[in-house]
Amino acid sequence: MKSRSLRFELTFWYSTVMAVTLLVMGVAVEQVAYNRISASIDNSLRQAAFTVISEVGVLRSKPDAEPFGETSTVLNPPPWPPRYVQILSASGEVLYRSANLGQYPLPIDSAALRDRGRGMVISPDMRLHGEPIRMITFPLPEYNGSDAAWGQVALSLHDLDRARKKNQLALAIILPAAIGISAVAGWWLARRALRPIDGVIRTAQRIRAANLNERIAPREVDDELGRLISTLNELLERLELNFRQVSRFSADVSHELRTPLTIIQGEAEVALREGASREEMQLALEVALDEAQRMSKLVKNLLMLARLETGQERPHFVETPLAPIIEDVSEEGLALARAKGVTFSAHTVENASVWGDAVLLHQLAFNLVDNAVKYTPAGGTVELSLSRNGSSVRLSVKDTGVGIDEAELGRIFDRFYRGDSARNHTEGGSGLGLALVAQIAEAHKGTIQVTSKPGEGSVFTVTFPLSSQAGKARPDMAEVSMIEGIRS
Ligand SMILES: Nc1ncnc2c1ncn2[C@@H]1O[C@H](COP(=O)(O)OP(=O)(O)O)[C@@H](O)[C@H]1O
Ligand SMILES: [Mg+2]
Repeated sequence: MKSRSLRFELTFWYSTVMAVTLLVMGVAVEQVAYNRISASIDNSLRQAAFTVISEVGVLRSKPDAEPFGETSTVLNPPPWPPRYVQILSASGEVLYRSANLGQYPLPIDSAALRDRGRGMVISPDMRLHGEPIRMITFPLPEYNGSDAAWGQVALSLHDLDRARKKNQLALAIILPAAIGISAVAGWWLARRALRPIDGVIRTAQRIRAANLNERIAPREVDDELGRLISTLNELLERLELNFRQVSRFSADVSHELRTPLTIIQGEAEVALREGASREEMQLALEVALDEAQRMSKLVKNLLMLARLETGQERPHFVETPLAPIIEDVSEEGLALARAKGVTFSAHTVENASVWGDAVLLHQLAFNLVDNAVKYTPAGGTVELSLSRNGSSVRLSVKDTGVGIDEAELGRIFDRFYRGDSARNHTEGGSGLGLALVAQIAEAHKGTIQVTSKPGEGSVFTVTFPLSSQAGKARPDMAEVSMIEGIRS
């Protein structure tokens, strides 16, 4: 993973976006300001032109007036702010120019002089001996005996230029400063926003198997980070639970395996003892074989449990009719019950299929029947029955046995859990039977219900969705079953 600071990245992008925004804003504001000032200068030029026209008119109306004397303030404006006036003859010859022009005439825009009909013409900005000016050229009304034909007024653009330069300078100073400030603010903001993440990282790094019970301090607010923290905490919760289960499980397994191993060892020693008779050896080997079979069954069950938990079994699921399974289990149950002097009966229905695995379902039914027979004294009855109920199918095993204490009910599905009565029982069993039942039921989306009265008996009921319903609940499965249906 490339090592990069999220904080740097956030700050970088924040500052970049800020800089671009400021630049665009600054340039736009500057342009708007320039356009407004420029338009107001154009207005002033036109106004000055009208004033000159009326002044010239007044001067012309006096019959003996000497043309364009020093008296007129309009034709001879004060030196500041600079306003230059010039009067031309029809041929473009300068008849008069304002005193502030000194000896330099205003430049003549010959394009503007070409046609009187064009009225007032503002020429492109130009320079008059280094001074930026804007000039308007306009035709004067014709008077008898007068050769004045054109007026020119020019205004200095000095102020406009200055304003523009000032703006640009301000932009040049403000922009880097603003970028600098926004970078600092961004850096600070990023640190503020990311600081809790550092805390999360530190806690997460500290958590090891030994302190899986530690949790990241939750935030008061339910923001993204708050949700991240609660998600992590939930993950830790699950990890802790799994971890505990695994450690308890290993302890239980070693415990369970120790007894048969000790017995096998003892029996082997007996058999190998000097002077052991043939009968003694035979007996020892029989016991050892018995224990080995018990162990192998235990290991097989454990393996099945592990597989179910990791979900490895599910890919083998197909549409499975339950009736043949019930028939098989009935036969086994009948044999078990007969050996014990218990009455056994079974009822089944056709057309009840679930989405699942026949071997697992057989195991589930068998474990329930096995328990029922095991925990029912001679003379009792055990009933296995299958019934359909709307969109579900119900498998139930009822016995008239010893029953289960209410306090025990919650634990009988735990691995290796064996009830007090069971532990005293001579018949084998390792407490994995119901754990498997629970796992298999879960894998088949089934639910288990137990009702029991100590001394009277128990009823175990597992309810599965019928396979059409199971298909609907799991679209991927439905697809598989459809394809299978087409093939067959
Ligand atoms: N039908 C039943 N009647 C009475 N108790 C039962 C019955 N089924 C299960 N139990 C109790 O639940 C415990 C766990 O059952 P299980 O997981 O099958 O283990 P195991 O049969 O090996 O003892 C049993 O030890 C027993 O106490
Ligand atoms: Mg059992």
